[in-house]
Amino acid sequence: MRVMRAVRRGSSVAAMTRYAIEAEGLTKSYGEVRALDGVSFQVPAGTIFGLLGPNGAGKSTTVKILTTLSAPDAGSARVAGIDVLRDPAAARRALGVVGQKHAVDREATGRENLELQGRLHGLGGAELRRRAQELLERFTLADAADRLAGTYSGGMQRRLDVALGLIQRPQVLFLDEPTTGLDPEVRADMWNEIGRLAREDGLTILLTTHYLEEADKLASQLAIVDRGKVVAEGTPEQLKGELRGEAIHVELADDVAGEGTVHAALAGVDGVREVVLEGRALRARADHGARAVPSVLAALEAGGLTVASVTVARPSLDDVYLRYAGRSFGDAASDGASETETATVGSR
Ligand SMILES: Nc1ncnc2c1ncn2[C@@H]1O[C@H](COP(=O)(O)OP(=O)(O)OP(=O)(O)O)[C@@H](O)[C@H]1O
Ligand SMILES: [Mg+2]
Repeated sequence: MRVMRAVRRGSSVAAMTRYAIEAEGLTKSYGEVRALDGVSFQVPAGTIFGLLGPNGAGKSTTVKILTTLSAPDAGSARVAGIDVLRDPAAARRALGVVGQKHAVDREATGRENLELQGRLHGLGGAELRRRAQELLERFTLADAADRLAGTYSGGMQRRLDVALGLIQRPQVLFLDEPTTGLDPEVRADMWNEIGRLAREDGLTILLTTHYLEEADKLASQLAIVDRGKVVAEGTPEQLKGELRGEAIHVELADDVAGEGTVHAALAGVDGVREVVLEGRALRARADHGARAVPSVLAALEAGGLTVASVTVARPSLDDVYLRYAGRSFGDAASDGASETETATVGSR
């Protein structure tokens, strides 16, 4: 006789979905201000996703909703397969969040900060002490563990912030502008650590940033948000690839009477378009930048223009941003910013 056995499907809800974060039609207004206007995106488990956008774009509002700290007017969201609106307590166990503002208590030591945070998550005893020590070592804070956090440098406080978000071993980590205000060297260290968390610990990470360079370096997928909407989405390479061709920058030796001279000189050069002159700086786009350079130089010389220097560059995320949001980071930052910090364009 065959014994029939019921097979219990033991897979958790989280394991059944290949996305660790799903946002669907998130909408939120603060009075007259529509902070989010239908934001949707999905983040595959184990990857780093970048939400890129200027001041006031809606990045923090999105993070607050996904981490149960705020409720949307409409839309739904799942983190680690858990509906954050229906089951916020379970969602909070699966996620860690490092807010835009410091969560560190400056009047307590680094170790005390971690142990307090752990107790808030229901940890205690030897397990909590071990976890705190592990994080202090991982974030190179072990030597300063018993000093007041108020005496830490900006970079140390930010590292402690990230450690606080990790105390209960979340599957999904939200980092709201993890490196704003850090100097370049400290920022590079933080990037390495964030990369390691995804690579070695299998965490899914959503980070928000103003830094194009940061999104380009860390995120495998990114979404550009502007005025509460996702205006572009893809891998950094895909987004850059959408801007066909390369940028040619020519520095002229002398002032030019008018842009007309330059346009006339370059009119006959194949594959060169979008010619713009600002002072002595001439910018154009070409399908094959390097191949076009000799013809461009010859045409300019023939038109009586002397060239001081020429460079060819691949399109940057800044160019992508400009195209989709219709304004540069600098311009966007100055209209109706919620924070006083200025947006910064990465160096690429
Ligand atoms: N609690 C609030 N009350 C009123 N308006 C708010 C509140 N929080 C956010 N807003 C507004 O909603 C919009 C989106 O703000 P949000 O903080 O999400 O932007 P952000 O992309 O995180 O910007 P930043 O880069 O400056 O941090 C802004 O216009 C902001 O002024
Ligand atoms: Mg913000």
